[in-house]
Amino acid sequence: MPFAYTSPDLTQNFEGTIFEKVENKMKNLKLLSDSELRVLYEDYLKKYKELQDKKFNLDMSRGKPSPEQLNLSLSLLDALNSQSDFSSEGCADCRNYGLMDGLPELKQLISELTGIDKESFIIGGNSSLSMMFDVISCFMIKGVSNCTPWIKQEKIKFLCPVPGYDRHFAMCEHFRIELISVEMTPNGPDMDFIEEIVSKDKQVKGIWCVPKYSNPQGITYSPETVERFASLKPLAPDFRIFWDNAYFVHDLTEEKSPLLDIMQECKKHGNEELPIIFFSTSKITLPGAGVAFLACGPENLKQLKENYSFKTVGFDKINQLRHLKFLKNPTQVKAHMKKQAEIIKPKFDVILNALKEEFQENPILSWTNPKGGYFISVNTEDGCAKKVAEVCKNCGLTLTKVGSTFPYGKDPRNKNIRLAPTYLSAKELQSAIKIFCLSVKIAYVEKRLLLI
Ligand SMILES: Cc1ncc(COP(=O)(O)O)c(C=O)c1O
Repeated sequence: MPFAYTSPDLTQNFEGTIFEKVENKMKNLKLLSDSELRVLYEDYLKKYKELQDKKFNLDMSRGKPSPEQLNLSLSLLDALNSQSDFSSEGCADCRNYGLMDGLPELKQLISELTGIDKESFIIGGNSSLSMMFDVISCFMIKGVSNCTPWIKQEKIKFLCPVPGYDRHFAMCEHFRIELISVEMTPNGPDMDFIEEIVSKDKQVKGIWCVPKYSNPQGITYSPETVERFASLKPLAPDFRIFWDNAYFVHDLTEEKSPLLDIMQECKKHGNEELPIIFFSTSKITLPGAGVAFLACGPENLKQLKENYSFKTVGFDKINQLRHLKFLKNPTQVKAHMKKQAEIIKPKFDVILNALKEEFQENPILSWTNPKGGYFISVNTEDGCAKKVAEVCKNCGLTLTKVGSTFPYGKDPRNKNIRLAPTYLSAKELQSAIKIFCLSVKIAYVEKRLLLI
């Protein structure tokens, strides 16, 4: 059913020329009086109706690569055929069972890309998220090393930098793990809070980190933040850092954001077992058909390998071999990611330019300016985000569910929205951002005029 965005006629006492005066007078809606806002509101609704009449159907809710990006990896499918050599170092025949923790050459390639020792890896199946699930399940049932299984402990808590990745939070909720929000800063999560709570609360067993181009703000943790993580002194011996480095080679510009190697830093502080690192080729090649990786200290590695030995005889080595032949070496990976960036960057620019144009002088919206990753995070005025999403939805634009970037799906200030620019075409994004900007203004005005 078409959405009729109606409101009381608030402008009937105003002359048409007042609108022009108001518009010329100032762009900053915060400086306008209620009666001036009423004038603008009528105009917004007219523009909104015009957009509604175009019957858009646009989805910016998930960080999916576009078809053009997927096309970049099509030759992955030609990397192996029935004539191929299926042997690899340590595995005479990749077509058969064996080599449960993955191909050594692929470990070597990923080690060269990340700086992490190749012996620290388990190469898994098609999803890093499922490896995170495996690790949490293992710690739940078996415990971390020789500690009491989490499920037998009174309460387990995880720290969640916010806004963050909804699936991390949902996974913890699934396991009945209590979630504690941690504020993000431009340098990473609030380390003062983290140091304090992990040193005092034995029930805190983990923290979710997306340390490079975080989902959704695109923040890369500063060297000081990484060092402080590496030197944590948790009260719980079974506390672990879940270091989800999903965007480790996903730069959008030449101006890269280097991230310190957490493993190396942890070794310096005798904390080798603290981090468990995850990433995958999901947003390098084909999501859902890529290869996932886990890296950790020797004790964790032994336990997790053993755990996997009960789960599988081995992961898909054909896919690993295919990826090895396609990605070849670090130079090739970087060249491939540059091509990805050439497709994605102009899309980010469409969004960022529009936000700048519309809101630089109108501080009812703030946003991040990422140099990589898949998302832009925006903050509306407190209490407006859900309304913005609703107004967008009723004009044919679906956004990521408001609240999902916070534990329990609840943004306490109802202000954060994740924008995912990669999937839509640049032309579609132009329409999407037009709807979005107008919706932000409508929601703000309605809040000011106490219509919501
Ligand atoms: C931070 C983060 N981690 C993990 C994933 C999912 O990765 P995978 O496809 O390897 O399961 C995503 C996907 O958007 C993500 O943003």
